[in-house]
Amino acid sequence: MDGLKLIDVLENRTIKRQQERGDQVRNPFDFDTFKEENRIVLDVTNMFDAPGPGSIRQHDVEALIPDVVRAHQMLRKQEGDIYDHGIPMTGWQDLPVEMGASYLDRIQSVTQELAPKVDAFVSLGIGGSYLGIEATIKALTHSYFNQLSREERGGAPEIYFLGQNMDPDFFRDTLDLLQGKRLAVNVISKSGTTTETAVAFRIIRHLMEQNWGADADRLILVTTDKGRGALKEMAAKRGYRTFVVPDDIGGRFSVLSDVGLVGLAMANIDIEEFVAGFRNMRDITLVDTFWRNPAYVHAALRHAAWLAGKKVEVVATNAMPLYSVARWMEQLFPESEGHEGHGMWVSPSLYSEKLHANGQMVQDGERNIMETFLLLASHDNRIPIPKMDNNLDGLDFLVENHMDMNAVNRMVVDGPAYAHHQGGVPNMTIEIPRRNAFNLGQLYYMMELSVAISGYLLGHNPFIQPGVEAYKRAMFALINKPGFEEDARGIREALKKREEVRI
Ligand code: PA5
Repeated sequence: MDGLKLIDVLENRTIKRQQERGDQVRNPFDFDTFKEENRIVLDVTNMFDAPGPGSIRQHDVEALIPDVVRAHQMLRKQEGDIYDHGIPMTGWQDLPVEMGASYLDRIQSVTQELAPKVDAFVSLGIGGSYLGIEATIKALTHSYFNQLSREERGGAPEIYFLGQNMDPDFFRDTLDLLQGKRLAVNVISKSGTTTETAVAFRIIRHLMEQNWGADADRLILVTTDKGRGALKEMAAKRGYRTFVVPDDIGGRFSVLSDVGLVGLAMANIDIEEFVAGFRNMRDITLVDTFWRNPAYVHAALRHAAWLAGKKVEVVATNAMPLYSVARWMEQLFPESEGHEGHGMWVSPSLYSEKLHANGQMVQDGERNIMETFLLLASHDNRIPIPKMDNNLDGLDFLVENHMDMNAVNRMVVDGPAYAHHQGGVPNMTIEIPRRNAFNLGQLYYMMELSVAISGYLLGHNPFIQPGVEAYKRAMFALINKPGFEEDARGIREALKKREEVRI
């Protein structure tokens, strides 16, 4: 028997786009018509008047307008609780307009030199030094990017991520896939001391040096603080090429900086278009008319929901590529909002899959949930549904009504949006017209501004993460890191108690 041939199946538009990008074919992102066609729409109808406890009324949101506008004004003037080590963490606000051609040229000259020389590119980092890159690549490329041929990837190398966890099996499995391949690596860490990233870098660097000796130094990129830290020192000693995590931009706000752009350029994503998306949303959100500013409305609605007792935000999407963006939001919002007893838990969900799991809870569980849909309005590919002999599964009506898979998938948002609202879950839909770098840039900027405003509304600094330090101290103590001996004594006492209650 021959293998499967895709008879009557249309060419894969995602692959075509990847190849076009490799050939430098670009979206006309500077044109007004392109901007109009790629307008992100926020539909908030279902946020209001859901039945049951914690219902939100329009006047609850309108009461927040003065605070939201004031928060943005303070942010623009760098006032309020927004400092980290004496630096206002607001660099992400204007970077889209400050980033000149030379900024991107430098990145592109390195990635264009490296990409053809290597089979695989490994990005090492955790949290803000990881998620934005993976989210954007997954959102814009083929679902099985690494399994395609190089030509189908538009000339890009395979892309891998390590350093985001400490799982030795996952690490070893990744090494198996890297075996026999020429590698380049980008180690990303603002502090330069994050254990997960540092351990991954040690192992990969050791392997690279064993294989290629001093030549490995040209294959290692370091993205870290511009002047200090362990990585900076190591890079200076070994002559690694370096990129910078800006002082005034925290990890989770750094996807538009060297942190994100190097990896995206490696994957052949148009980084100029990505910047243009950020720039466009910056322009849109400079308007201080509340109902015309999507970041204002987004921030106010989420805050009103939190005040009304909503403690979980399900961020659901009908598009596999946007699931990773929901994961990026899972970091951006809780790490910024989860301070001093505040904040909503963000639960990324892919529908339909999760409708058959936690969907039950969303419809009918405790009414402490709100929901945000990331709706991909237009997919790259269209999949028609064929007729079946004798209509055995009863679905011929879809064919008769000219409904393809795309049309049904749209209802995977519209159906739950209605049903969940009826069940007492306020929800909003962020409609993303199509998968391109411009739209991702727009969405990220809108979310970053929204969460910054949320910090003011909640009354704490959204740009720091003191809670993350607590786990680090405990872990350092347990792995006998010098300087943490005191913590270690306390923890070991506590661990003894655990022995007593193990069943
Ligand atoms: O958003 C953040 O600031 C964090 O998630 C950091 O990005 C994460 O902890 C990694 O830190 P670093 O880049 O210092 O290794």
